[in-house]
Amino acid sequence: MQTYDIAFIPGDGVGTEVSAEAIKILTAIGDKYGFQFKTETFGWGCDYYLQHGQMMPDDMLEKLKAFDAIFLGCIGDVNKVPDHISLTLLLTIRKGFDQYVNLRPIKLYPGVDTALKNASPSTVDMAVVRENTEGEYSGSGGFYKLGTPDGTAIQTAIFTQKGCERVMRYAFDLARKRKKPGDSPAGKVTNCTKSNALNYSMVFWDKVFDQVAQDYPDIKTDMALVDALTMWMVKDPEGFDVIVASNLFGDIITDLGAMLQGGMGFAAGANLNPEKTYPSMFEPIHGSAPKYAGKGIVNPVAAIESVRMMMEHLGETEASKDIEAALNHVLQSGDVKTRDMGGQHSTTEMGDAVKKAILGS
Ligand code: IPM
Ligand code: MN
Repeated sequence: MQTYDIAFIPGDGVGTEVSAEAIKILTAIGDKYGFQFKTETFGWGCDYYLQHGQMMPDDMLEKLKAFDAIFLGCIGDVNKVPDHISLTLLLTIRKGFDQYVNLRPIKLYPGVDTALKNASPSTVDMAVVRENTEGEYSGSGGFYKLGTPDGTAIQTAIFTQKGCERVMRYAFDLARKRKKPGDSPAGKVTNCTKSNALNYSMVFWDKVFDQVAQDYPDIKTDMALVDALTMWMVKDPEGFDVIVASNLFGDIITDLGAMLQGGMGFAAGANLNPEKTYPSMFEPIHGSAPKYAGKGIVNPVAAIESVRMMMEHLGETEASKDIEAALNHVLQSGDVKTRDMGGQHSTTEMGDAVKKAILGS
């Protein structure tokens, strides 16, 4: 029997609730396809910090290394721990396991409302490939003369040839996978940049993009300055297929993308180490929403879509397609709607409906 070891870090706030739905879907997939998912749950996060003075144990990466994949609920609760401390858990895993691709699909499911009045599942269907280990989030810098009129903060963005090139290659490969040669429109990669103002980092980024593009003559390319790109994402979402962006820009445009697809409850993400040297990590991109925690009302679709991406990464294509079909079916039917969708159904009821659609019973 195919066995997968999956680590669960439910994290903070609503993380526990969405993780429970993710486990529910994994179990259903395991039953249907005859896989065994061995899950282990780790209670790291802000409550752990309040007890131990740190977000996670020093040997976290050692503990996680042997797993086939990691599911993360969400991390952070500013009422307990300042955000710049709590996010170390997430960033340590992303960087420590060289999860250099942060893949975030932006797709509007059938039956889901969006803020864009002309949007439809065929016009909102793109993927953001966000660089996930360096760039503006390199964590390099310092404070000088704090508390004096000369107080200064320096935050250095680090862009390397290797770091830019590998994430861009991933984006071009993804464009090839999403569209077949000869498809109209053809696959396209949009370079999200800001080289008009960032005269070193983004000029370098653009150069690497142009180099990588040479190896993909079948894929169309396009470039947009990040500020203009936010405008185009709203005005003409259909114009995008794959967008490749630096760490900071990718972070920002995917929250905008979440709104195009009907809200944070639908926005999923994968932190990928494509070579599989280390485990990859799958997470809904919403925060821990402390004010909704424990109420059972948040939408678990983003968490379930993250499980789908986990299946795809593990090579379980049929299982992944099955989850996709189940989500489409449940959302299109409109029978189950969580609060964010204008309904009254609970987190569990949405998870149960998707499970039922997978098992066909
Ligand atoms: C995200 C989050 C994180 C990020 C924070 C919590 C560090 O906003 O996953 O998008 O910016 O990467
Ligand atoms: Mn973010």
